[in-house]
Amino acid sequence: DKVVLAYSGGLDTSVIVPWLRENYGCEVVCFTADVGQGIKELEGLEEKAKASGACQLVVKDLKEEFVKDYIFPCLRAGAIYERKYLLGTSMARPVIAKAMVDVAREVGADAVSHGCTGKGNDQVRFELTFFALNPELSVVAPWREWEIRGREDAIEYAKKHSIPVPVTKKSIYSRDRNLWHLSHEGDILEDPANEPKEDMYMISVNPEDAPDQPEKVKIGIDAGLPVSVDGVKLSPASLLSKLNEIGKRHGIGRIDMVENRLVGMKSRGVYETPGGTILFTAVRELESLTLDRETMQVKDSLALKYAELVYAGRWFDPLRESMDAFMEEITKSTTGSVTLKLYKGSISVAGRESPYSLYRQDISSFESGQIYDQADAAGFIRLYGLPMRVRAMLDKGRYD
Ligand code: ARG
Ligand code: SIN
Repeated sequence: DKVVLAYSGGLDTSVIVPWLRENYGCEVVCFTADVGQGIKELEGLEEKAKASGACQLVVKDLKEEFVKDYIFPCLRAGAIYERKYLLGTSMARPVIAKAMVDVAREVGADAVSHGCTGKGNDQVRFELTFFALNPELSVVAPWREWEIRGREDAIEYAKKHSIPVPVTKKSIYSRDRNLWHLSHEGDILEDPANEPKEDMYMISVNPEDAPDQPEKVKIGIDAGLPVSVDGVKLSPASLLSKLNEIGKRHGIGRIDMVENRLVGMKSRGVYETPGGTILFTAVRELESLTLDRETMQVKDSLALKYAELVYAGRWFDPLRESMDAFMEEITKSTTGSVTLKLYKGSISVAGRESPYSLYRQDISSFESGQIYDQADAAGFIRLYGLPMRVRAMLDKGRYD
């Protein structure tokens, strides 16, 4: 029997390896996905996994797939959870879990395991993906089963099983990082009355310390998907990295929020999403040219549901997939470019252009009047306001 474990090399997942062997008598294949979390210690990770008792470590670079097939569809959909969260962790779980299902097939494993706690969203995201892609796999979630309650217990367990305790020192925050974002939860953040400490932030400078000179950046968009920065075509992952760099130095994309977890509790989190925040602004601005009123309203209302599905781990739900088909169709004309100006944490628009723009200066201008005849407005307003006139007449007792 073999199990594929989502492995990071940290203390928790290192302890899960001997625990799985002891409690399930299975061989453990460790799996590490590169989703842009900046794994410095990829080197030596295999020795580390083996020292914990794994029979094998499989590493896959999922960065391009993550950005192209998960992040970009959410961006195109305009998916934002509870007004603020750009879904960084939510989008990463299905791409990792999908890869685990593939690895399980490749190595002939019949079970998968993850180190998510029983109190969070991540366990749901992993497991719904496992269900959707291979319902035959058994799922083991040690945090919901074992006696280990914290770091001290874990270290003790490691020592008892002669597993080297990872030297990487644990931060006081629970963090999750990938190419899109970095999340912070726990410690002083658990009281929503506390302001985050400046030294917590890692991928954005303090807006107050950002350069006094604004910087312009031009984003090229093709059918709702970003394709270039300042005229240079880039692959999805390199485009995002580039914007992360630019956004970082101007302190773009810090979000502090209290959110409703799927499991019912509220939780307080702080997110850094520098490149992502730039991209959301760019797509939204381009849509102001390319979408008409009603289309935009319907798209925005579906985006709410889309975000909720992604947050709740239902990536491989036919509902999300169908909604994605709608998003793809409706953004076919969202092509063009947006120039943004970044300055001390803020983004302002410095220009937008599209060959499919519905904005017509010859119609909208105060100067002229060829297509739009102002005299038409009188009849339009009379009929548009007919229900209002009828009601007012009724109210005044003049209707009989
Ligand atoms: N609250 C966010 C979410 O549910 C971030 C979760 C971060 N996960 C973690 N394992 N630290 O998407
Ligand atoms: C966890 O509990 O494993 C992290 C937080 C979350 O999943 O929401």
